[in-house]
Amino acid sequence: MATIDLAPGDVIADIPAVKHAAIDSMSAYQSLVDEADRDHEAFWARLARDHLTWHRPFSRVLDETNAPFYRWFDDGLLNASYNCLDRNLVNGNADKTAIIFESDDGLVTTVTYRALYHRVCRVANALRNLGVGKGDRVVIYLPMSIEGVVAMQACARIGAPHSVVFGGFSAKALHERMVDVGACAVITADEQVRGGKTLPLKSIVDEALSFGGTDGVRSVIVYRRTGGDVAWNAQRDLWLDEIERAAPDTCEPEWVDAEHPLFILYTSGSTGTPKGVQHSTAGYLLWASLTMRWTFDIKPDDIYWCTADIGWITGHSYICYGPCAVGATQVIFEGVPTYPNAARFWDMIQRHEVSIFYTAPTAIRSLMKCADTEDAVHPCNFDLTSLRLLGTVGEPINPSAWKWFATEVGHNRCPVLDTFWQTETGGHMIAPLPGAAPLVPGSCTLPLPGIAAAIVDESGHDVPSGQSGVLVIKRPWPSMLRTVWRNPERFRKGYFPEELGGKLYLAGDGAIRDARTGYFTITGRVDDVLNVSGHRMGTMEIESALTANPLVAEAAVVGKPDETIGEAIVAFVVLKDVMPKTSADAKAIANELRAWVGREIGPIAKPREIRFGEHMPKTRSGKVVRRLLRSIAKGEAILQDLSTVENPGVLKQFSHPA
Ligand code: PRX
Repeated sequence: MATIDLAPGDVIADIPAVKHAAIDSMSAYQSLVDEADRDHEAFWARLARDHLTWHRPFSRVLDETNAPFYRWFDDGLLNASYNCLDRNLVNGNADKTAIIFESDDGLVTTVTYRALYHRVCRVANALRNLGVGKGDRVVIYLPMSIEGVVAMQACARIGAPHSVVFGGFSAKALHERMVDVGACAVITADEQVRGGKTLPLKSIVDEALSFGGTDGVRSVIVYRRTGGDVAWNAQRDLWLDEIERAAPDTCEPEWVDAEHPLFILYTSGSTGTPKGVQHSTAGYLLWASLTMRWTFDIKPDDIYWCTADIGWITGHSYICYGPCAVGATQVIFEGVPTYPNAARFWDMIQRHEVSIFYTAPTAIRSLMKCADTEDAVHPCNFDLTSLRLLGTVGEPINPSAWKWFATEVGHNRCPVLDTFWQTETGGHMIAPLPGAAPLVPGSCTLPLPGIAAAIVDESGHDVPSGQSGVLVIKRPWPSMLRTVWRNPERFRKGYFPEELGGKLYLAGDGAIRDARTGYFTITGRVDDVLNVSGHRMGTMEIESALTANPLVAEAAVVGKPDETIGEAIVAFVVLKDVMPKTSADAKAIANELRAWVGREIGPIAKPREIRFGEHMPKTRSGKVVRRLLRSIAKGEAILQDLSTVENPGVLKQFSHPA
C-alpha cells in the first residue's frame, strides 16, 4: 500500500487504505509535497485555478511585502456562495440533496442544491433590503439548522462577513463579541432545542443588546424554530420566514477581492478576551474544499456527516463551506449524541446510510463508556456497513478510543483520520490521507501537501526527530488567518513571535515527530489554553469571569486531565472575606460561582472543581505557581522544591475541592 519506512515495532493499524482515493498512494502524496517544495506559489496557484471559480482570475499569487500579513491571489474576484451554490446548479447537482437535516426529536427535512440556492438568495436580498452591505458584520446566533447554513451563505453572497457565536455562549459572551465585531444585524432563533431541552436564544440576544454599546445593531432576524413566546421590538425585530417570503429568489452575488474577509470567528487565547480570527474568502474556501477531497476523499455518492456545531470552525469549514463547495450531500443534526439515548449517532448513521463520519474524541469516549455499560446502545446493534471513512477533530484521540472507534464503529474497514488543525488554520493541517498513509493510533501522521509543519525549540531552531518541541508552520498557506479583528498587533505578536524570529507561525501546541516515520503526535497546548470536550477555553478568560464576582479576590484556573472530556476545569479561589467556615458553606459558594461563570461565559466554562484558600500560592516575585496548582489539581504529592514559594502553607488548604 505505502512506502513509508515503518519498523517492525511500530504500532500500525491493520486497516486497508481506501481504493481510488484522490491521493491514492504515498508516492502520489510525495509528488504533491515535492511539487509544493519546488515552487510553493505555482503549486497553490494551480490548485486555486483548478478548484475555485473566479469572476476575475488572479494574476498575483502571494504578496509577502507586509509579512506576516500575507495576501493570496489578491487581484482575483470571486464569491464564496457562488462557489458553494451556483456552481452546483450547472454541474448536474441542482437536484441533488445538499442537506439532510435531522431535528432533536427526529424529524427529517431535506433540501436540494437548487432549493438551498433560492433560500440563500432570498435571505441575501432581504439582508440587502435591510441595508446590510459589503463589509458590514452580521452576528449569527443560531442552533444547528438548515437556516444556519442559509444565514452564513447569505452573508457571504452579499460580502457581509459573518461572526457566528456558539449557541451555548451566554448573553455576556455574546454581547462582548457583538461589540468587538461591530455588528449591524443579528440572526437568531426563537429557541434552540437540544437533548429535549429548550434554550431561549432570542431572549439571550435581547439581554445582550440591553447591555448597551450595540447601537449599530439595526435588525434582529428571528428564525421561528419552536414557535415559543418571544418579546418583540417592532422597530428592530423581523421573522426570517416573513422577510424570506417577501424577497426575490435570485440574487446577484457581490464579487469580492480574494482577501475580502469571509468571516470573523472568536476563539480563546491565552489572555482574557477572546480574539476575532479573521479569514479571507479565496484562500479559506480553497482549503475547505480541497481538504474535503484530499482528507475526506469525498465522492458524488457519499453521505457525509460532521457532528460539529456551526459555532466552531469545524462547522464553518466542514459543514457550511467545504461540503457545499464540492457538491456533497451532508447530514446536519440539531441535537446531542446522548438523546434520546447514547445510540443516536449509530442509529442516524444506519438510517441515513452515512459513509463519512467526522466527530470529536470526547463524543467517542463518552459513547464508548455508555456502550460498555448498556448493551442496547452498543454500535454492534446497528448496521454501519455504509461507513467508509471515520474522522476525529478538536483534541488528541487516545489510542484506546481510536481503536474502539476503528473496531466497533468502523469494523476495521474504515480508516480513522485524526485531523489536527485550528480555528486559525482554516482547515486540516496534519492528517492522514485515507488512500495513502498507513495509520498509527494516536498520531495525526503527516502534514498535508503544501503545509510546511515543523517542530522547533524555544528559539525557533528545528529539534531532531524523537524530541518534543513546539509546532510551527514555516511558510504561509492560503487558508491561514489574516489577522485578529481590530488587533493586528495581537496577531503579529501572538502568532509570529519575535523569539522565534518573527517568521514562523506558532500553533500554540507541543508536538513530537517519530524518528522513523516522521509522523507527528500533538502533545497538547503549550500556553494557557485548555481543551475541554474539544472546546477551546482560555484560563485567563475564566479567571477574569471569576474575579468579576464581588465575592472573589483572586482566582487561578488550571486544567486537570480527564479520561472522557480531555481536560476538566479546576479553579483556585481566594475570597475577599474569610474562608468558608463549613464544607456546606464552601459548596454553596462554589455553586454560586459556577453559576456566575455560566452567566459570564457559558455553561462550557463552568469549573468542575472550585478550591478555596486564604492566599494564592505565589513565588517571592508575586507570580502564581501554576505548576504547583496543576499538581494539586491532579492530586499528586508535592515533591517540588518549595523554597521559592512565598506562602507554602496555603497549599494544604487547596488540597480538596469544595
Ligand atoms: O490543541 C489543539 C487541539 O485544538 C486546538 C485548536 O482548537 P480550535 O481552534 O477550537 O479548533 C478545533 C477544531 C479544529 C489545537 O491547537 N486540537 C485540534 N485537533 C487536534 C488537536 N489536538 C490533538 N489532535 C488533534 N487532532
